[in-house]
Amino acid sequence: MATMSEQQAQYSNWVSSKFIIVPAFLSILFGGLAFIIPALGFLGGFFFVCAIYFAYARRQFSPKGGDIQTKVQNLLLQRMEDWDGKGKVLDIGCGNGPLSIRIAKRFPTSEIIGIDTWGTAWEFSMAVCKRNAIVENVDDRVRFQHGSAASLPFDGETFDMVVSNLVFHEVRNVRDKSKLIQEALRVIKPGGRFVFQDLFLWKLVYGDADDLLERIWSWGIESVTLLDTSSSDFIPKALKLPFMLGTVGILYGRK
Ligand SMILES: C[S@@+](CC[C@H](N)C(=O)[O-])C[C@H]1O[C@@H](n2cnc3c(N)ncnc32)[C@H](O)[C@@H]1O
Repeated sequence: MATMSEQQAQYSNWVSSKFIIVPAFLSILFGGLAFIIPALGFLGGFFFVCAIYFAYARRQFSPKGGDIQTKVQNLLLQRMEDWDGKGKVLDIGCGNGPLSIRIAKRFPTSEIIGIDTWGTAWEFSMAVCKRNAIVENVDDRVRFQHGSAASLPFDGETFDMVVSNLVFHEVRNVRDKSKLIQEALRVIKPGGRFVFQDLFLWKLVYGDADDLLERIWSWGIESVTLLDTSSSDFIPKALKLPFMLGTVGILYGRK
């Protein structure tokens, strides 16, 4: 039996396998029905293309393909480079904990809390996070907690650094996504830092980027900058659709 230190951490792919299985199933269904109603052949073809596209994206995101998830997380980590690493970090929407764990490794004096809603099987997902932290040998400084970005379970001014990677656009119960940024800023200590990466350049989700920046300034913070990361060289053209990485950007600054 492999000991914990010999085991591998398990980080999930941002493109869930259901995005391949469901369209593949629909493609077969409508393809079959097209023998009776030929017009349905179009739907069969459409779902076939969707299944192929998401299979390609899943491969590109994984370490066995283009390792794009790690590269996108690196863009966020680069914005933290000049931090002294002393203090408490909050990772909002931590998934299986890859970013929380990488921050712990990069900043050995930091303490990290990763929170996520994780869906209905949240207890299992949180256990996977804890196991990943043990496998990566940072479980003494990283802990995970169930909670939503919409209403963070922390007092104001608790953290020295707050990060979040590709989460806010997924929060379904908050229509105005800028409220999630405001909520994240609430828990930062005065003078503390933030680095958020999300689809900030997608007007459908965040509205005009200049208006968004103006709103954030109006909350009385010390600095904020929006960086377009969608133009990064490692992102293949096919993944630059708005709902993938075509509108991704980083908001970083100081409270
Ligand atoms: C694309 S994944 C990104 C995960 C992680 N940040 C990373 O870099 O790998 C989006 C994550 O947002 C989480 N999420 C969705 N809604 C949330 C909410 N209301 N509060 C906290 N996390 C949420 C999902 O459970 C999922 O883990």
